[in-house]
Amino acid sequence: MRIAVVGTGYVGLVTGVCLSEIGHEVICIDIDEAKIEKLNNGFSPIYEPGLEQLLNDNIAEGRLSFTTDFEQGFQYAQAIYIAVGTPQRDDGSANLDHVETVARSIANHIREYVVVVTKSTVPVGTNHRIKQIIEENMVEKVPFNMVSNPEFLREGTAVHDTFHGDRIVIGADSDSAAEFVKEINKPFGIAVFCTDIQSAEMIKYASNAFLATKISFINEISNLCEKLDANVEDVSHGMGMDQRIGRQFLQAGIGYGGSCFPKDTKALIQIAGNVEHEFDLLKSVVRVNNKQQKLLVKKAKDRFGSLEGKTITILGLAFKPNTDDMRESASIVICDQLIRSGAIVKAYDPIAIEKARSILNPEVVFAASIEVAVTHADCMFILTEWSQFKQMDLTAIRTMMKEAIIFDGRNIFSLELMKEKGFEYHSVGRAS
Ligand code: UGA
Repeated sequence: MRIAVVGTGYVGLVTGVCLSEIGHEVICIDIDEAKIEKLNNGFSPIYEPGLEQLLNDNIAEGRLSFTTDFEQGFQYAQAIYIAVGTPQRDDGSANLDHVETVARSIANHIREYVVVVTKSTVPVGTNHRIKQIIEENMVEKVPFNMVSNPEFLREGTAVHDTFHGDRIVIGADSDSAAEFVKEINKPFGIAVFCTDIQSAEMIKYASNAFLATKISFINEISNLCEKLDANVEDVSHGMGMDQRIGRQFLQAGIGYGGSCFPKDTKALIQIAGNVEHEFDLLKSVVRVNNKQQKLLVKKAKDRFGSLEGKTITILGLAFKPNTDDMRESASIVICDQLIRSGAIVKAYDPIAIEKARSILNPEVVFAASIEVAVTHADCMFILTEWSQFKQMDLTAIRTMMKEAIIFDGRNIFSLELMKEKGFEYHSVGRAS
Protein backbone atom coordinates (compact mmCIF):
# COMPACT_ATOMS: atom_id res chain seq x y z
CA MET A 1 0.00 0.00 0.00
CA ARG A 2 1.06 3.62 -0.46
CA ILE A 3 1.45 5.46 2.81
CA ALA A 4 2.43 9.04 3.70
CA VAL A 5 3.75 9.72 7.19
CA VAL A 6 3.80 13.32 8.39
CA GLY A 7 6.47 14.07 11.00
CA THR A 8 9.90 12.43 11.08
CA GLY A 9 10.37 12.68 14.82
CA TYR A 10 10.82 9.62 16.90
CA VAL A 11 7.34 8.12 16.33
CA GLY A 12 6.96 9.10 12.67
CA LEU A 13 10.39 7.94 11.59
CA VAL A 14 10.20 4.56 13.30
CA THR A 15 6.66 4.05 11.96
CA GLY A 16 7.60 5.04 8.41
CA VAL A 17 10.75 2.95 8.28
CA CYS A 18 9.05 -0.14 9.76
CA LEU A 19 6.01 0.15 7.46
CA SER A 20 8.37 0.20 4.48
CA GLU A 21 10.22 -2.81 5.89
CA ILE A 22 7.00 -4.86 5.77
CA GLY A 23 6.56 -4.00 2.10
CA HIS A 24 4.60 -0.74 1.92
CA GLU A 25 5.61 2.16 -0.25
CA VAL A 26 6.24 4.94 2.27
CA ILE A 27 6.95 8.63 1.86
CA CYS A 28 7.78 10.60 5.02
CA ILE A 29 7.10 14.33 5.11
CA ASP A 30 8.62 16.97 7.36
CA ILE A 31 9.04 20.74 7.22
CA ASP A 32 12.66 20.50 8.42
CA GLU A 33 14.70 20.58 5.20
CA ALA A 34 18.04 19.73 6.79
CA LYS A 35 16.52 16.67 8.44
CA ILE A 36 14.90 15.47 5.21
CA GLU A 37 18.19 15.80 3.36
CA LYS A 38 19.97 13.84 6.04
CA LEU A 39 17.31 11.12 5.90
CA ASN A 40 17.41 10.90 2.09
CA ASN A 41 21.15 10.31 2.46
CA GLY A 42 20.50 7.43 4.84
CA PHE A 43 21.38 9.10 8.15
CA SER A 44 19.01 8.85 11.10
CA PRO A 45 18.69 12.05 13.16
CA ILE A 46 17.93 9.98 16.28
CA TYR A 47 19.89 7.21 17.92
CA GLU A 48 17.73 4.10 17.83
CA PRO A 49 19.27 0.63 17.57
CA GLY A 50 18.58 -1.02 14.20
CA LEU A 51 16.83 2.00 12.67
CA GLU A 52 19.59 3.30 10.40
CA GLN A 53 20.15 -0.12 8.85
CA LEU A 54 16.45 -0.50 7.99
CA LEU A 55 16.41 3.09 6.74
CA ASN A 56 19.19 2.39 4.27
CA ASP A 57 17.84 -1.04 3.23
CA ASN A 58 14.44 0.38 2.36
CA ILE A 59 15.76 3.48 0.60
CA ALA A 60 17.86 1.10 -1.52
CA GLU A 61 14.80 -1.08 -2.23
CA GLY A 62 12.98 2.05 -3.45
CA ARG A 63 10.19 1.66 -0.88
CA LEU A 64 11.12 4.60 1.34
CA SER A 65 11.62 8.27 0.55
CA PHE A 66 11.51 11.65 2.30
CA THR A 67 10.21 15.03 1.23
CA THR A 68 9.31 18.49 2.49
CA ASP A 69 6.62 18.79 -0.19
CA PHE A 70 3.20 17.96 1.25
CA GLU A 71 1.49 17.94 -2.13
CA GLN A 72 3.94 15.42 -3.51
CA GLY A 73 3.75 13.36 -0.32
CA PHE A 74 -0.03 13.14 -0.28
CA GLN A 75 -0.42 12.65 -4.03
CA TYR A 76 -0.86 8.88 -4.23
CA ALA A 77 -1.30 8.08 -0.55
CA GLN A 78 -4.02 5.60 0.41
CA ALA A 79 -3.33 6.32 4.08
CA ILE A 80 -1.87 9.44 5.72
CA TYR A 81 -0.30 8.93 9.14
CA ILE A 82 -0.13 11.96 11.45
CA ALA A 83 2.94 11.59 13.66
CA VAL A 84 3.87 15.14 14.60
CA GLY A 85 4.76 16.23 18.12
CA THR A 86 2.25 17.25 20.80
CA PRO A 87 4.54 19.14 23.20
CA GLN A 88 3.51 20.14 26.68
CA ARG A 89 2.08 23.60 27.29
CA ASP A 90 2.90 25.48 30.49
CA ASP A 91 -0.38 24.31 32.09
CA GLY A 92 0.45 20.64 31.33
CA SER A 93 -2.02 20.30 28.44
CA ALA A 94 -0.95 18.97 25.03
CA ASN A 95 -0.20 21.58 22.38
CA LEU A 96 -2.09 20.47 19.26
CA ASP A 97 -0.90 23.22 16.91
CA HIS A 98 1.20 20.87 14.74
CA VAL A 99 -1.59 18.30 14.53
CA GLU A 100 -4.10 20.94 13.45
CA THR A 101 -1.70 22.34 10.85
CA VAL A 102 -1.34 18.87 9.33
CA ALA A 103 -5.14 18.46 9.30
CA ARG A 104 -5.44 21.72 7.32
CA SER A 105 -2.74 20.59 4.93
CA ILE A 106 -4.55 17.28 4.35
CA ALA A 107 -7.73 19.26 3.64
CA ASN A 108 -5.82 21.32 1.07
CA HIS A 109 -4.20 18.49 -0.79
CA ILE A 110 -6.29 15.32 -0.87
CA ARG A 111 -8.03 14.60 -4.16
CA GLU A 112 -9.34 11.07 -3.59
CA TYR A 113 -10.45 8.76 -0.77
CA VAL A 114 -7.89 8.39 1.98
CA VAL A 115 -7.72 6.99 5.51
CA VAL A 116 -6.22 9.45 8.02
CA VAL A 117 -4.42 7.63 10.82
CA THR A 118 -3.31 9.44 13.99
CA LYS A 119 -0.16 8.12 15.67
CA SER A 120 0.56 11.22 17.75
CA THR A 121 -0.58 11.03 21.37
CA VAL A 122 -3.61 13.29 21.44
CA PRO A 123 -6.24 14.05 24.10
CA VAL A 124 -9.54 12.22 23.90
CA GLY A 125 -11.73 13.93 21.31
CA THR A 126 -8.85 15.21 19.14
CA ASN A 127 -9.44 12.80 16.26
CA HIS A 128 -12.99 14.09 15.98
CA ARG A 129 -11.58 17.61 15.93
CA ILE A 130 -9.10 16.61 13.18
CA LYS A 131 -11.97 15.14 11.18
CA GLN A 132 -13.93 18.35 11.60
CA ILE A 133 -11.00 20.52 10.49
CA ILE A 134 -10.49 18.41 7.38
CA GLU A 135 -14.23 18.48 6.54
CA GLU A 136 -14.49 22.25 7.02
CA ASN A 137 -11.36 23.11 5.01
CA MET A 138 -11.47 20.58 2.18
CA VAL A 139 -10.63 22.09 -1.18
CA GLU A 140 -12.08 19.14 -3.05
CA LYS A 141 -14.93 17.24 -1.39
CA VAL A 142 -13.77 13.62 -1.25
CA PRO A 143 -14.68 10.95 1.30
CA PHE A 144 -12.16 10.02 4.01
CA ASN A 145 -12.07 8.07 7.27
CA MET A 146 -10.40 8.71 10.60
CA VAL A 147 -8.46 6.15 12.64
CA SER A 148 -6.69 6.50 15.99
CA ASN A 149 -3.73 4.10 16.06
CA PRO A 150 -1.61 4.98 19.12
CA GLU A 151 1.96 3.75 19.43
CA PHE A 152 3.36 1.86 22.41
CA LEU A 153 7.04 1.88 21.47
CA ARG A 154 9.79 2.37 23.98
CA GLU A 155 12.79 4.47 23.07
CA GLY A 156 15.90 2.39 22.66
CA THR A 157 13.89 -0.70 21.64
CA ALA A 158 11.45 0.96 19.23
CA VAL A 159 12.32 -1.14 16.18
CA HIS A 160 12.15 -4.36 18.18
CA ASP A 161 8.86 -3.25 19.79
CA THR A 162 7.33 -2.49 16.38
CA PHE A 163 7.88 -6.08 15.29
CA HIS A 164 7.18 -7.71 18.66
CA GLY A 165 4.61 -5.44 20.37
CA ASP A 166 1.87 -6.82 22.62
CA ARG A 167 -0.99 -5.22 20.68
CA ILE A 168 -1.99 -2.87 17.93
CA VAL A 169 -4.92 -0.64 18.92
CA ILE A 170 -7.21 0.60 16.16
CA GLY A 171 -9.98 3.07 16.95
CA ALA A 172 -11.91 3.76 13.75
CA ASP A 173 -14.96 5.70 12.61
CA SER A 174 -15.99 2.85 10.29
CA ASP A 175 -15.53 -0.92 10.04
CA SER A 176 -13.97 -0.63 6.60
CA ALA A 177 -11.33 1.86 7.81
CA ALA A 178 -10.54 -0.45 10.75
CA GLU A 179 -10.16 -3.35 8.32
CA PHE A 180 -7.91 -1.25 6.08
CA VAL A 181 -5.50 -0.33 8.91
CA LYS A 182 -5.59 -3.95 10.12
CA GLU A 183 -4.53 -5.00 6.62
CA ILE A 184 -1.66 -2.48 6.60
CA ASN A 185 -0.38 -3.94 9.89
CA LYS A 186 -0.99 -7.62 9.06
CA PRO A 187 2.66 -8.47 8.21
CA PHE A 188 3.71 -7.50 11.77
CA GLY A 189 1.69 -10.52 13.00
CA ILE A 190 0.69 -8.73 16.23
CA ALA A 191 -2.69 -9.05 18.01
CA VAL A 192 -5.08 -6.28 16.99
CA PHE A 193 -7.71 -4.72 19.22
CA CYS A 194 -10.40 -2.68 17.48
CA THR A 195 -12.50 -0.12 19.31
CA ASP A 196 -14.03 3.32 18.88
CA ILE A 197 -11.86 6.40 18.41
CA GLN A 198 -12.22 7.90 21.92
CA SER A 199 -11.42 4.59 23.63
CA ALA A 200 -8.28 4.16 21.50
CA GLU A 201 -7.17 7.67 22.44
CA MET A 202 -7.81 6.88 26.11
CA ILE A 203 -5.97 3.51 25.96
CA LYS A 204 -2.76 5.37 25.14
CA TYR A 205 -2.99 7.80 28.07
CA ALA A 206 -4.31 5.19 30.49
CA SER A 207 -1.47 2.79 29.63
CA ASN A 208 1.27 5.37 30.17
CA ALA A 209 -0.41 6.69 33.34
CA PHE A 210 -0.71 3.16 34.71
CA LEU A 211 2.96 2.36 34.06
CA ALA A 212 3.98 5.68 35.67
CA THR A 213 1.77 4.76 38.65
CA LYS A 214 3.55 1.42 39.02
CA ILE A 215 6.91 3.25 39.09
CA SER A 216 5.83 5.86 41.64
CA PHE A 217 4.25 3.12 43.74
CA ILE A 218 7.43 1.05 43.91
CA ASN A 219 9.46 4.21 44.58
CA GLU A 220 7.27 4.97 47.59
CA ILE A 221 7.64 1.36 48.76
CA SER A 222 11.42 1.70 48.34
CA ASN A 223 11.46 4.78 50.56
CA LEU A 224 9.56 2.81 53.18
CA CYS A 225 11.91 -0.16 52.76
CA GLU A 226 14.85 2.08 53.65
CA LYS A 227 13.18 3.14 56.88
CA LEU A 228 12.01 -0.37 57.80
CA ASP A 229 15.17 -2.23 56.83
CA ALA A 230 13.59 -4.19 53.99
CA ASN A 231 15.08 -4.73 50.51
CA VAL A 232 13.02 -3.28 47.65
CA GLU A 233 14.61 -5.57 45.06
CA ASP A 234 13.29 -8.59 46.92
CA VAL A 235 9.97 -6.87 47.55
CA SER A 236 9.46 -6.16 43.79
CA HIS A 237 10.54 -9.67 42.95
CA GLY A 238 8.11 -11.20 45.42
CA MET A 239 5.29 -8.89 44.28
CA GLY A 240 5.97 -9.47 40.59
CA MET A 241 5.66 -13.24 40.95
CA ASP A 242 1.93 -12.62 41.32
CA GLN A 243 0.80 -12.61 37.69
CA ARG A 244 -1.91 -10.09 38.50
CA ILE A 245 0.84 -7.62 39.44
CA GLY A 246 3.57 -8.64 36.97
CA ARG A 247 7.31 -8.14 37.22
CA GLN A 248 7.73 -5.22 34.86
CA PHE A 249 7.94 -1.54 35.79
CA LEU A 250 8.62 -2.33 39.43
CA GLN A 251 12.23 -1.19 39.33
CA ALA A 252 12.72 1.44 42.03
CA GLY A 253 15.02 4.33 41.15
CA ILE A 254 15.19 8.09 40.72
CA GLY A 255 11.79 8.44 39.06
CA TYR A 256 10.60 8.20 35.48
CA GLY A 257 11.75 10.65 32.80
CA GLY A 258 11.63 10.85 29.02
CA SER A 259 9.35 12.45 26.50
CA CYS A 260 6.27 10.40 27.39
CA PHE A 261 5.44 9.62 31.02
CA PRO A 262 6.03 13.13 32.44
CA LYS A 263 4.10 14.76 29.57
CA ASP A 264 1.27 12.23 29.32
CA THR A 265 0.57 12.03 33.07
CA LYS A 266 0.26 15.82 33.27
CA ALA A 267 -1.88 15.91 30.11
CA LEU A 268 -4.28 13.30 31.51
CA ILE A 269 -4.64 15.29 34.74
CA GLN A 270 -5.48 18.28 32.54
CA ILE A 271 -7.91 16.27 30.37
CA ALA A 272 -9.69 15.10 33.55
CA GLY A 273 -9.77 18.65 34.89
CA ASN A 274 -11.47 19.82 31.71
CA VAL A 275 -14.44 17.59 32.53
CA GLU A 276 -14.33 18.58 36.21
CA HIS A 277 -12.71 15.37 37.39
CA GLU A 278 -9.93 15.61 39.98
CA PHE A 279 -7.52 12.80 39.10
CA ASP A 280 -6.14 12.60 42.66
CA LEU A 281 -4.26 9.34 42.16
CA LEU A 282 -2.35 10.61 39.12
CA LYS A 283 -1.57 13.91 40.83
CA SER A 284 0.14 11.94 43.59
CA VAL A 285 2.04 9.89 41.02
CA VAL A 286 3.51 13.09 39.58
CA ARG A 287 4.30 14.51 43.05
CA VAL A 288 6.04 11.30 44.12
CA ASN A 289 8.10 11.37 40.91
CA ASN A 290 9.26 14.94 41.50
CA LYS A 291 10.24 14.00 45.04
CA GLN A 292 12.07 10.87 43.91
CA GLN A 293 14.30 12.81 41.50
CA LYS A 294 15.73 14.67 44.49
CA LEU A 295 16.45 11.55 46.55
CA LEU A 296 20.13 11.02 45.71
CA VAL A 297 21.14 14.62 46.41
CA LYS A 298 19.42 14.38 49.79
CA LYS A 299 21.30 11.17 50.55
CA ALA A 300 24.60 12.82 49.60
CA LYS A 301 23.85 15.86 51.77
CA ASP A 302 22.99 13.60 54.71
CA ARG A 303 26.26 11.74 54.20
CA PHE A 304 28.61 14.70 53.70
CA GLY A 305 26.86 17.46 55.61
CA SER A 306 27.76 19.98 52.92
CA LEU A 307 28.51 19.40 49.23
CA GLU A 308 30.47 22.65 48.94
CA GLY A 309 33.71 21.99 47.00
CA LYS A 310 33.04 18.24 46.64
CA THR A 311 33.89 16.72 43.26
CA ILE A 312 30.99 14.53 42.18
CA THR A 313 31.05 12.16 39.19
CA ILE A 314 27.80 11.62 37.34
CA LEU A 315 27.60 8.40 35.34
CA GLY A 316 24.64 8.41 32.95
CA LEU A 317 22.74 11.45 31.70
CA ALA A 318 20.09 10.04 29.33
CA PHE A 319 16.69 9.31 30.87
CA LYS A 320 17.33 5.61 30.32
CA PRO A 321 19.95 3.42 28.58
CA ASN A 322 20.30 2.92 24.80
CA THR A 323 19.11 6.40 23.95
CA ASP A 324 20.66 9.85 23.77
CA ASP A 325 17.33 11.41 24.79
CA MET A 326 17.73 13.91 27.61
CA ARG A 327 14.10 15.06 27.81
CA GLU A 328 12.87 15.24 31.43
CA SER A 329 15.87 13.18 32.54
CA ALA A 330 16.42 13.16 36.31
CA SER A 331 20.04 14.11 35.55
CA ILE A 332 18.88 17.66 34.72
CA VAL A 333 17.42 18.24 38.20
CA ILE A 334 20.22 16.38 39.95
CA CYS A 335 23.13 18.21 38.23
CA ASP A 336 21.44 21.52 38.88
CA GLN A 337 20.89 20.77 42.58
CA LEU A 338 24.48 19.60 43.01
CA ILE A 339 25.93 22.71 41.40
CA ARG A 340 23.66 24.97 43.41
CA SER A 341 24.93 23.17 46.52
CA GLY A 342 28.51 24.15 45.59
CA ALA A 343 29.70 20.81 44.16
CA ILE A 344 31.97 20.38 41.13
CA VAL A 345 30.16 18.06 38.73
CA LYS A 346 32.01 15.86 36.21
CA ALA A 347 29.65 13.92 33.95
CA TYR A 348 29.97 11.02 31.53
CA ASP A 349 27.43 9.27 29.32
CA PRO A 350 28.21 6.84 26.48
CA ILE A 351 26.13 8.75 23.90
CA ALA A 352 24.06 11.58 25.42
CA ILE A 353 26.85 14.13 26.05
CA GLU A 354 26.23 16.15 22.88
CA LYS A 355 22.54 16.58 23.69
CA ALA A 356 23.31 17.16 27.38
CA ARG A 357 25.62 20.11 26.69
CA SER A 358 22.78 22.43 25.74
CA ILE A 359 20.41 21.17 28.46
CA LEU A 360 22.38 20.73 31.68
CA ASN A 361 23.55 23.47 33.99
CA PRO A 362 26.46 25.13 32.08
CA GLU A 363 28.85 24.52 34.97
CA VAL A 364 28.78 20.75 34.41
CA VAL A 365 32.16 19.50 33.15
CA PHE A 366 31.92 16.69 30.60
CA ALA A 367 34.38 13.79 30.63
CA ALA A 368 35.33 11.65 27.64
CA SER A 369 35.43 8.38 29.60
CA ILE A 370 34.40 6.80 32.89
CA GLU A 371 38.03 6.93 34.02
CA VAL A 372 38.39 10.66 33.39
CA ALA A 373 35.07 11.30 35.12
CA VAL A 374 35.92 9.40 38.32
CA THR A 375 39.52 10.57 38.83
CA HIS A 376 39.86 12.34 42.24
CA ALA A 377 36.09 12.26 42.80
CA ASP A 378 34.68 12.45 46.33
CA CYS A 379 31.78 10.26 45.24
CA MET A 380 29.96 8.90 42.21
CA PHE A 381 26.28 9.17 41.26
CA ILE A 382 24.90 6.49 38.90
CA LEU A 383 21.84 7.89 37.11
CA THR A 384 21.38 5.64 34.05
CA GLU A 385 21.79 1.85 34.04
CA TRP A 386 24.03 1.60 30.96
CA SER A 387 25.57 -1.88 30.62
CA GLN A 388 28.98 -0.17 30.28
CA PHE A 389 28.65 0.93 33.93
CA LYS A 390 27.59 -2.53 35.11
CA GLN A 391 30.75 -3.94 33.52
CA MET A 392 33.27 -1.32 34.68
CA ASP A 393 36.45 -2.44 36.43
CA LEU A 394 35.48 -1.55 39.99
CA THR A 395 38.86 -2.39 41.46
CA ALA A 396 40.58 0.08 39.13
CA ILE A 397 37.83 2.70 39.56
CA ARG A 398 38.18 2.54 43.32
CA THR A 399 41.85 3.48 43.16
CA MET A 400 41.10 6.45 40.90
CA MET A 401 38.51 8.01 43.20
CA LYS A 402 39.46 10.15 46.17
CA GLU A 403 36.81 8.37 48.23
CA ALA A 404 35.17 5.07 47.29
CA ILE A 405 31.58 6.21 47.72
CA ILE A 406 28.75 5.44 45.29
CA PHE A 407 25.19 6.80 45.24
CA ASP A 408 23.40 4.48 42.85
CA GLY A 409 20.00 5.69 41.62
CA ARG A 410 19.43 2.54 39.55
CA ASN A 411 20.56 -0.27 41.88
CA ILE A 412 22.91 -1.72 39.27
CA PHE A 413 25.17 -3.51 41.76
CA SER A 414 24.47 -6.10 44.44
CA LEU A 415 25.19 -5.15 48.04
CA GLU A 416 27.55 -8.13 48.26
CA LEU A 417 29.67 -7.00 45.29
CA MET A 418 29.97 -3.48 46.67
CA LYS A 419 31.13 -4.82 50.02
CA GLU A 420 33.63 -7.15 48.35
CA LYS A 421 35.05 -4.30 46.22
CA GLY A 422 35.32 -2.00 49.23
CA PHE A 423 32.81 0.70 48.29
CA GLU A 424 30.56 2.63 50.61
CA TYR A 425 27.35 2.06 48.68
CA HIS A 426 24.11 4.03 48.91
CA SER A 427 21.37 2.67 46.66
CA VAL A 428 17.57 2.93 46.49
CA GLY A 429 15.39 0.98 48.91
CA ARG A 430 18.20 -1.19 50.22
CA ALA A 431 20.38 -1.06 53.32
CA SER A 432 23.63 0.93 52.91
C1 UGA B 1 7.11 4.77 27.41
C2 UGA B 1 6.25 3.49 27.37
O1 UGA B 1 6.94 2.42 28.02
C3 UGA B 1 5.92 3.08 25.94
O2 UGA B 1 5.04 1.97 25.93
C4 UGA B 1 5.24 4.29 25.25
O3 UGA B 1 4.95 4.00 23.89
C5 UGA B 1 6.16 5.49 25.29
O4 UGA B 1 6.44 5.80 26.68
C6 UGA B 1 5.46 6.62 24.60
O5 UGA B 1 4.41 7.06 25.08
O6 UGA B 1 5.89 7.02 23.50
P1 UGA B 1 9.73 5.30 27.07
O7 UGA B 1 9.40 6.67 27.57
O8 UGA B 1 10.54 5.15 25.84
O9 UGA B 1 8.37 4.47 26.80
O10 UGA B 1 10.53 4.57 28.21
P2 UGA B 1 10.29 3.48 29.35
O11 UGA B 1 11.16 2.32 29.08
O12 UGA B 1 8.86 3.21 29.55
O13 UGA B 1 10.87 4.25 30.63
C7 UGA B 1 10.33 5.49 31.06
C8 UGA B 1 10.98 5.94 32.34
O14 UGA B 1 10.58 5.13 33.44
C9 UGA B 1 12.52 5.89 32.33
O15 UGA B 1 13.04 7.05 32.93
C10 UGA B 1 12.85 4.65 33.15
O16 UGA B 1 14.10 4.73 33.77
C11 UGA B 1 11.72 4.68 34.17
N1 UGA B 1 11.43 3.36 34.75
C12 UGA B 1 10.93 2.35 33.96
C13 UGA B 1 11.64 3.15 36.10
O17 UGA B 1 12.09 4.04 36.85
N2 UGA B 1 11.34 1.91 36.63
C14 UGA B 1 10.85 0.90 35.88
O18 UGA B 1 10.58 -0.18 36.44
C15 UGA B 1 10.64 1.13 34.51
